[in-house]
Amino acid sequence: MRIPESKIAEVASATDIVQVISDYVHLKKAGKDYRGICPFHGDKDPSFYVSPQKGIFHCFGCAIGGSVFNFIMRIENISFLEAVRTLARRFGVPFHLEDTVRAGADEKELLFSALETGRLYFAANLASHEAARQYLFDRGILEEWIAILGLGFAPDSWDGIHNHLRKEAVTPGDAVSAGLIRERTSGGYYDYFRSRIMIPVRNLNGQLVAFGGRILGEGDPKYLNSPESPIFHKKNILYGLDTAKEAIRREGSCVVVEGYFDQISLKMRGFENSVAPLGTAFGSEQVRIIKRFCGKIITVFDSDEAGLRALKRSIPFFLAEGMDPYCVVLDKDKDPDEAIRRLGASAFRRILDRAAPTIDFFLDSLNSKYDLNTIQGRNLAIEECLPILREVADSNERDYFIERFSSRTRIREDRLMRMLKARVGRSADKPKKDDAKGLFDFPADERNVVRGMLLLDGFIDQVAHSGVLKDLEDPVLSGLARRMIDFAGRTRKFNSCDFLNSIEDNDLSSIVAKWLKPRPEEDDLRPEVDGALTVHESLDYIRLRKLEKRKVEIKERMKKCPPGEDEYNLLAQELLSIGRRLHR
Ligand code: UTP
Ligand code: MN
Repeated sequence: MRIPESKIAEVASATDIVQVISDYVHLKKAGKDYRGICPFHGDKDPSFYVSPQKGIFHCFGCAIGGSVFNFIMRIENISFLEAVRTLARRFGVPFHLEDTVRAGADEKELLFSALETGRLYFAANLASHEAARQYLFDRGILEEWIAILGLGFAPDSWDGIHNHLRKEAVTPGDAVSAGLIRERTSGGYYDYFRSRIMIPVRNLNGQLVAFGGRILGEGDPKYLNSPESPIFHKKNILYGLDTAKEAIRREGSCVVVEGYFDQISLKMRGFENSVAPLGTAFGSEQVRIIKRFCGKIITVFDSDEAGLRALKRSIPFFLAEGMDPYCVVLDKDKDPDEAIRRLGASAFRRILDRAAPTIDFFLDSLNSKYDLNTIQGRNLAIEECLPILREVADSNERDYFIERFSSRTRIREDRLMRMLKARVGRSADKPKKDDAKGLFDFPADERNVVRGMLLLDGFIDQVAHSGVLKDLEDPVLSGLARRMIDFAGRTRKFNSCDFLNSIEDNDLSSIVAKWLKPRPEEDDLRPEVDGALTVHESLDYIRLRKLEKRKVEIKERMKKCPPGEDEYNLLAQELLSIGRRLHR
């Protein structure tokens, strides 16, 4: 599907980029631009900039950037078309599907619709399955909540949903991709979820992306999740976040529990700001997602060995995202569901209010685990602290953390500092997290030329006529150059911001936004001179390099060619002319 450029430009000019991004990032005015904490990486100092004049965002930390469309695509995980459509709706620009050139139904749309068909089937089955309903009632989930949560039941059958989907004209291919049925090795299909309470899992926008299925009664595995699919990536999803996000923003905090039913149990009792990961350990992606909505995350852990291990493992993820995590550790109850049912909502509220920094809890646990009066005990304790200290090693808050560690464990600060330096030095070659960096590994001369096309008036024409295009070796740059020439041809007057708005590819848009970046006063590489070469010198350089290469090729060929033959003479002539051009 393609949207005409004029429509894109219309939507872009009606859109207030600062207003849109402010929904996700707290922006402060900085001269003509706005700055804030980048939502796309573990940003600690604000390195994320928005320029309303240029209509771009760009992060100086992770180098991600682009138009307002690319921002919405990234943060909401939607397609370019959906991003344009969303903003058109929001800013009152008429936008019809006829505005797009239709090219078959979107694959994701088919998956959403297969899951929705499945959900209705599961819901209807629950309504007529007494044992399943009784199970939910026994867990304290009454009629009203079954509807609110959209719970369902997958019957104990190998072909129940399979037959139903067939009747509803969902193709087996889509049903398999959506994770509702599986293909038998012997041919045919069978239901993926059988005899399970079905819990719909929705993404941030409330779109149904998966199911969690709990076995009715005993059985293995107790919980089964939909497999990963183009619309479902477990590590980016938190159960309940779609309905919790408003409360999280309002209350400024988010409660993270381990299981589906813990989340449900809390939500039913008025704790609207709670979410649960889907049977995976809590990771950086999830911290990053919640960080968009609030500054305080409270994780509820069990007090058993496994709970404490999970507590310790989670800390570096929070620190990497610049967050100081909070926790509650349950001692009498197995999980939050049990605790809140035993204690009642107000007592549970008091427990949450007493949530303490997870790091302090961890340090206190070291204190009781090791005898810190002995050298060996202290060494073991430091060993355990290192993965956590390493995360803060080069942050501004390092001293603060060291002080906290020291006062809780009574290990001297200078000792911690020395250990830290020794270890950090040794692990200095650990790979950089920053995957966007690879985007900018371009040959300097080619980069200069393509960047010049974007920034210098009239340079696109020059490049188009120079014939240098075919000599660009970097596929990304040469693709970008071709797009610009194409775009300039279609729009007559090339405008770099319009060009950026038309780019659907988020990586490509990051490159363009970096070149158009806000705060030009801090850009030490003016477009005319990048490194030692001017743009025009770079253009010559690319041609010369090509000629040099050709020279080597010719010499090789001539070695294999008997002198005097036609081919030999032609090659010799070409060599001569290259020589003259090279020495001009
Ligand atoms: P628990 O086993 O602690 O479940 O798993 P629970 O919530 O107390 O279960 P109930 O109360 O008996 O129903 C917590 C979470 O771990 C994941 C699920 O996401 C579950 O909510 N899990 C658990 C799985 O993914 N697979 C399993 O087999 C078990
Ligand atoms: Mn439970």
